[in-house]
Amino acid sequence: MNIVITGATSGIGQQLALDYAEQGHRVIACGRNQETLQQLTQKYPDRIGSLAFDIADKAQTLAKLRTLTGIDLVILSAGVCEYLDVENFDAAMFERVYQVNIFGTMYCVQALLPNLKRGSHLVLVGSTARLLPFTKAEVYGSSKAAIHYITRSLEVDLGQRGIKVSSVSPGFVKTPMTAANDFEMPMEVSVEFASSAIRKGIAKGKRDIAFPWVFATLLKCLSLMPQSWQVAISRRMAS
Ligand SMILES: NC(=O)c1ccc[n+]([C@@H]2O[C@H](COP(=O)([O-])OP(=O)(O)OC[C@H]3O[C@@H](n4cnc5c(N)ncnc54)[C@H](OP(=O)(O)O)[C@@H]3O)[C@@H](O)[C@H]2O)c1
Repeated sequence: MNIVITGATSGIGQQLALDYAEQGHRVIACGRNQETLQQLTQKYPDRIGSLAFDIADKAQTLAKLRTLTGIDLVILSAGVCEYLDVENFDAAMFERVYQVNIFGTMYCVQALLPNLKRGSHLVLVGSTARLLPFTKAEVYGSSKAAIHYITRSLEVDLGQRGIKVSSVSPGFVKTPMTAANDFEMPMEVSVEFASSAIRKGIAKGKRDIAFPWVFATLLKCLSLMPQSWQVAISRRMAS
């Protein structure tokens, strides 16, 4: 397969790039960190190519991705996380995070979609954070809820073109992103586990790839409870 992966310079995206290359696929690894991109291409010179750009920059993103053809699989994993301090509410945090997680991801979709052929697969990385109103997650959680909704609508609208669309909802994964967290992260998994779960889900054509299973299922069940319960549970977790 020819695979495009954003966020390939770190964490989940990087592990996916390495694992797919190891399996013999051709990967175009995307990110801003040129040094890491170079290391990836040096490790698998015949299987990993790289594109350095900032997905928050629409012109750059369109210019870099628009000409790619023959792509079988796109995994849009690039993302950022910031937690809100409600006492110092600053809407600029929404602008920063949405610019990458939502608008940046959509710039990638805009650039790649015209050249995606029948039978190709578009995968957007969200988060299980979308499932409950977690403390301090107003910005990050809402960005990932938007990604999940967009994914579901895209599946409806791209069906006729024969393009499969899937949403990935990881629980806690040990990456540089979560290294900054100062709270307990139940059922945290490794990037190797995350990559394996995502690759298996994609291979099976699953529309909703959520893992680890117990954590994701628990959150899905909680998300079906009355909202007053969800708020009470989240308040308890926050205290
Ligand atoms: N780790 C978790 O527990 C967890 C849980 C749920 C969901 N997720 C989601 O999984 C995805 C990957 O997360 P991760 O944990 O692997 O994070 P990570 O290790 O911090 O990696 C983030 C990646 O996104 C790229 N990126 C960020 N801003 C970018 C920008 N403006 N332009 C281009 N690339 C940009 C980074 O590349 P450069 O710095 O090179 O640009 C990096 O490769 C994210 O969407 C995240 O929200 C993670």
